[in-house]
Amino acid sequence: MQRVRQIAADLYWVGGSDRRLALFENMFPLPDGVAYNAYLLLGEKAVLIDTVDTAVTRPFLENLTQVLNGRPLDYVVVNHMEPDHCSILEELALRYPGLQIVGNRKTFQLIEQFYDFDAAPRFYEVKDGDTLPLGDRTLRFTFAPMVHWPEVMFTYEQRDGILFSADAFGSFGAFSGNLFSDEVAYEQRFLDEARRYYTNIVGKYGLQVQAALKKLEGTEIRLICPAHGLIWRENLGYILEKYNFWSRYEPEETGVLLAYASMYGNTEAVMQAVAGGLAERGVRNLRMYDVSKTHPSVLIAEAFRTSHLVFGAPTYNGHLYFAMDTLLREMAALNLQNRTVALVGNGSWFPVSAKLMAQQLSEMKGMELLGSFEVRSTLKESQAEELEAFIDKLASSVLERAGHAAG
Ligand code: FEO
Repeated sequence: MQRVRQIAADLYWVGGSDRRLALFENMFPLPDGVAYNAYLLLGEKAVLIDTVDTAVTRPFLENLTQVLNGRPLDYVVVNHMEPDHCSILEELALRYPGLQIVGNRKTFQLIEQFYDFDAAPRFYEVKDGDTLPLGDRTLRFTFAPMVHWPEVMFTYEQRDGILFSADAFGSFGAFSGNLFSDEVAYEQRFLDEARRYYTNIVGKYGLQVQAALKKLEGTEIRLICPAHGLIWRENLGYILEKYNFWSRYEPEETGVLLAYASMYGNTEAVMQAVAGGLAERGVRNLRMYDVSKTHPSVLIAEAFRTSHLVFGAPTYNGHLYFAMDTLLREMAALNLQNRTVALVGNGSWFPVSAKLMAQQLSEMKGMELLGSFEVRSTLKESQAEELEAFIDKLASSVLERAGHAAG
């Protein structure tokens, strides 16, 4: 027995939450779990929008069966063919002999790559902009390739203005009863996880997200139903604006992310001196992290949020300290761009960390390198003047940006 939720006229949430999974895509930590959303439109036709991950098969099938109450399922729309949304397709085909699977050419190609059941006779192919009349409602399909895979499409229900947005506008985090973003303290409880979800899962495809957002212009959206995370029925502009920032690689706030690696606390000490100096100069929104203790997905999200980045790392065996090397590579792979950066390097006999960090950053788009400050093993009193000049330059840049934003 599950608690199915009606979220609009003839529309039911029939998904499930998983608090057991440790790593999303076996890579990203899930401290608060994750929700897999599936939605059932129950009008003249019974239409399921997306399915769920195998982990929540049982609650999903119980939910679905309960709402259908003996009716057959007519269509399942596959907005996104990644297995976290599609792993129940074969089970549905077995249960509902007349079921048609709505998707596009790429969706069907992926279904046949991932699954071995005889799906093809059930395929109902749609093209970009096509509609599916359901009698009392009409669905319209808008292709949104690479938000997050090439086959992704959004489904728009025209009568009530409901957008089923696949991975877009979702977040990590299991549900605690509330299904709507306006029922929770979203900014405190979910925004960080929505940003971490977007930046790490879809972050590379900012251009494609921009293209998808453009396609939605002029569409009257009253409800956003994502495939993960909370549903939006109020203040839709809030999450649309966040997506606009993230997908344009534009910082949400003026501030400084200080991310360091430190083997014996000496590089950390320099970063603390930099952070303290920035605070003394009136810089706000400083956040410092040890890259050895913080998952890169958190740092990626923080870097997408923040205007200025300071990276500090020791040299390690003539190379860049591995955790920092990994972080910068991930940032490059996710296309992070247009940030102002400063570097703190350390080395005892062959210091190359600042040079190697600068090299990696130079290969990323729009990264302005303000300067590097280097120490040999530890910070010395003799470097005080040089350090103050380094902090001055960084602080001026942050304060200038803050002034522009305020003005
Ligand atoms: Fe939630 Fe791209 O799958």
